[in-house]
Order: sequence, then C-alpha cells, then structure tokens
Amino acid sequence: MTSDEIRFKYLNFFKERGHTVIPSASLVPGETDSTVLFTTAGMHPLVPFLLGEKHPSGNNRLTSVQKCIRTADIDEVGNTRHLTFFEMLGNWSLGDYFKEEAIDMSWEFLTGKEGLGLDKNKLAVSVFEGDEDAPFDEEAFGLWQKHGVPEERIAKLPKKDNWWGPAGETGPCGPDTEMFYWVKSEPAPKKFDPENDGWMEIWNDVFMEYDKKKDGTYEFLKQKNVDTGMGLERVAMIMQGKKNVYETDVFEPLVARIKNYELGIKNEEKSIRIIADHVKAATFIISDGVVPSNTGQGYVLRRLIRRAIRHAKLIGIEKSFTGDIAQTVVDIYGKSYPEVLTNKNKIFEELQKEEEKFNVTLEKGLKEFSKISENNISGKDAFNLYQTYGFPVEMIKELAEEKGKKVNTESFCAELQKHQELSRTASAGMFKGGLADSTEKTTKLHTATHLLLASLRQVLGKHVEQRGSNITEKRLRLDFSHPEKLTDEERKKVEDLVNQKIKENLPVLLEEMTLDEARKAGAVGIFESKYGDRVKVYSTGNSSTGSEPPFSREICGGPHVDNTGVLGKFKITKEEASSAGIRRIKAVVV
Ligand code: SER
Repeated sequence: MTSDEIRFKYLNFFKERGHTVIPSASLVPGETDSTVLFTTAGMHPLVPFLLGEKHPSGNNRLTSVQKCIRTADIDEVGNTRHLTFFEMLGNWSLGDYFKEEAIDMSWEFLTGKEGLGLDKNKLAVSVFEGDEDAPFDEEAFGLWQKHGVPEERIAKLPKKDNWWGPAGETGPCGPDTEMFYWVKSEPAPKKFDPENDGWMEIWNDVFMEYDKKKDGTYEFLKQKNVDTGMGLERVAMIMQGKKNVYETDVFEPLVARIKNYELGIKNEEKSIRIIADHVKAATFIISDGVVPSNTGQGYVLRRLIRRAIRHAKLIGIEKSFTGDIAQTVVDIYGKSYPEVLTNKNKIFEELQKEEEKFNVTLEKGLKEFSKISENNISGKDAFNLYQTYGFPVEMIKELAEEKGKKVNTESFCAELQKHQELSRTASAGMFKGGLADSTEKTTKLHTATHLLLASLRQVLGKHVEQRGSNITEKRLRLDFSHPEKLTDEERKKVEDLVNQKIKENLPVLLEEMTLDEARKAGAVGIFESKYGDRVKVYSTGNSSTGSEPPFSREICGGPHVDNTGVLGKFKITKEEASSAGIRRIKAVVV
C-alpha cells in the first residue's frame, strides 16, 4: 500500500462516517497559537473549535492529514522511526462522538477490510491508569476488551505516557489510549511491554474533556472532544513490510538520491538518514514561508540545513546537494502538497543561499573546533563558533559529544544574551534617529493594522490570526487566516468596529516585559525570541496592569501613534484570497 493510498483510505474511511475532510494547515502556527514554533499535531490548528467555537465547515466531525514538525526527538532522527517532519492522519469529534465510537472506528480502521486489515494478534494498547486529576479510564479498557484485546495486551500507564496535551502551556487535553503494532520478525510476545521497542506506537486517541489552566489545574471543557493522530510514515513502514521508515516510499527515493553521490565514506547510514530527514523538513518549512535566520522558526530551519550540510561533508559529499535532494522531496510530495511544487524555486534558492553561506565558514569553524575541544567547551568558545562561524549551538553540542566532551550551554546563553542586549540598544538608537516626519502615515497605518486584527478576531472569531503584514505610505495590507470570503455584512462590521475604536480616542500604550509576562497578559504576536528576551507589547485601550482587558494587545516592535483618535477614517479597499485558507485585506485611513 503506497503512502498515497494510505492517506486516501484514511480520509475516505472517516468521510464515509460523517467527517468533513479539511486541508492540512501551515506548519507555522498562527500568531495567537504561539506557545510553540511549529504545528506539532493535527489538533493544533483546531484549538478554538475544541474549546467550543463552531467550525466554519458547520460539521463537528473532521478528518485531515496534517504536516507536522517536531524537534524534541531530533537527536533520535536516524534510528528506525523518529522524524522531524511527519504527516499525521487524524479524526476529530468536536463535542460529537466520544470514547465508544472513537475506539470502535479505530479498531475497524486498523483491522477491518475497509481499513488496513492488520493482524489482530500483533496489536496492543495502553490506557490511562488514573491519578489525582482524572480517574482510571475504565471505559476505554472495557471497550478494547469488547473488541477481543486480551487483558495482558492492555497496559495501564500514568500521565507521562497516557495523557495528551495541551499543545502549549494551557488548553484542551485529556487521557488517551494508544495503539501499538508488533514490528519485529519474531512472534509477538503474549504480554504487552511498552518498553520493548518491538512494539511501535502507531495511533493515539485522545479523549479531550479537560482544559488545563495557567495555574496548573484542570477544568472540564464545554464539550467532550476526540482528537486522534496516526503517524503516516509508521503505518507506511508496516504496510510496506519495511524494517524502518527510511525504506518506505516517502524516504526511499531520497536515500537513493543521496547514495548516488560518490560517497567517500560508506555505510554512514545515520548521516544519510539525517540528511534525508532534515532536507525534507527544511523544504516544507520554506514552502510555508520561513527563511533561515537566527531566531524562532528561522533558527530551527537554519539548524536543520546546517546539520544536513555537516553530515553531507562527513560522508564525503563535496558538491552542492541540498537543491538536488529538495527536488526529490518535491517529486515525492508535489501531488499531495501542491505548495512545495509552487514554491519550488524559492525553496531551491533559500537552500542554495544557506548552503553557500555555511560552506564559507564550515571548514574554518571545524578547524577552530578541533583546537578548542581538547577539553570541555566554554560558553565563550561556543559563542565564538556560533558568532564567527555560524555553528548552531546544537551542532556544537553534537560535535562535542562525538569527542566525548561537554559544552557549557548556560554560559553560552549568557554570552548570547549579552550580545543581543548590545545589538538591541544599537538598533533602538538607529530607529529613533531614522523616524522622520514622512513616516507618520505608515505609523498611523501600523496602529490601524492592530485595530483591524483585533476587530477581525471579534467579528469572525479567534481562529483569525495574522499571517503577514505590509505597510506602505498609501495603504496597509494584512493577511490573516480565515477559510472564506467575508460577507458584505462582516466586512462592514469590521470597518465599523475599527472606526468606533478610533472615535473612542483610545490610548496606545507601550510596555516592555518578558515573553512569559506577555503571554500571560494575553498578547498576540510571534513568541519567537529565545533565552529570556524582553519584548515590546503595545496595548490599545488598557495597560497590562489595568483591570479591563484592552481592545488589542500585540507583541510588536512599533512604532505606533499615541492615541487612536489621530487616525482619521478607516476604510477597507479590498478583500481577497491570498492563498488557501488565508484572506488579504487592503485598507486606508483618510
Ligand atoms: N494530539 C495527539 C497526538 O499528537 C493525537 O492527535 O498524539
């Protein structure tokens, strides 16, 4: 069964059971969902609907194949099953069916003719054992037994294993039940032992009925949801009878392409896998609009590309290779994810640029590294490698580990912070000086953009998140997530609300705070800075210490006007599609 067939089978199975098929959301979460850098699960883009908002499709049963990035297991990439980029097959009930139907459907898909037709004797499951926050999941336990799963194949496990979410610090979560398949050639043991790596987790049904609060307590959600996630690559491994995910049809062509190079050192299977995994992840991340940089998503991207380059050198690839490998990624995925095809040139260009940049310093940096790595590596030396030779700190750690040495990351972070403070002071000074009268118009439009985003979220719902902004002296342009064209009525409501807020003469207040404080104060914006950065937060209508929430609060570099009253009349001049699921508004103040 090819991966195309698996995707199709899954979506079709759930479509036939009343689910609406929704497209994969971007790998880059919207600005309100900013407690993580990347979409890590299919439920991520669905948080507002799990919390009770009506889904725009009108249906409370949804299914999708979601692209995901997880970097937590990045050191394990290259073993048999951990990946940075992967696809998650998922089905959701938004307050519709719950445990019984979810488990029935999972069982049917796993073992039935319409689904994967897996061998029942090679399946095992786990359920939540219960603790002070929630009881033992007796119901799930009983439902698996009903399907004939013997007791010794049902493990009862604690929260660290059988509880999922929230995706960030707060939000929907709950006990889950996980499904495992025996993947070794010897017969499956009678008793299920989750520690035995012959058992591979393939699917997770989360029974989301709790909302985790900031203070760590759990409250019941308005509705009981189901959130499931199944790893496509792992299923492909089973269905294609392979021993690891790199032999499946979503990897094999990449591995083959890499092996086509005249590798100086043979049998470096792990490096080949890291290159395949990282270039694939980088391709998808760039196609969702991220470019390499030193912060946030851009930093993760840079780290992936540079690590791939280092491993390529390690196995003797001397030529430029990232574009070539990315072409194979496009060949594999172009049909399922047209964005990699349409952004092909941009992807190749960014990879090429990054490769050239890093090639200039890599060799010198490695020489420097061998000098400083006689002993454990100090924060200062690590920072020098980072600053002068562009070595991501994770790479320095990896290099050090290969020599049995350690890196003082704490002192590295302190060095980095010192440096960032210095450069921020410099750019703040520059900014003040450069702000001439002629930019007064753009400043007004900038504040208007904040009012517009807050109004859209009030009128259309909290799923609206900023996806891009561009301001010239003549107009503002805001891209935001929303599935359909605004009705005339919605457009007028948004315009009226912005104008009302302008009339209310609201003060625009600037405060500096830590990221954490900004998050707690409910600010929207990109939570991308690292290492305890302080950020600027602009609030319209009320400061973070005020008793009432403000109309708008965003993490933002500014500048802004002091009072909304000076903006004039706000008018939307255009509302159109920007890309799938993203609308674009152009507007003026006159
Ligand atoms: N959110 C759950 C997971 O990621 C199920 O989709 O495993």
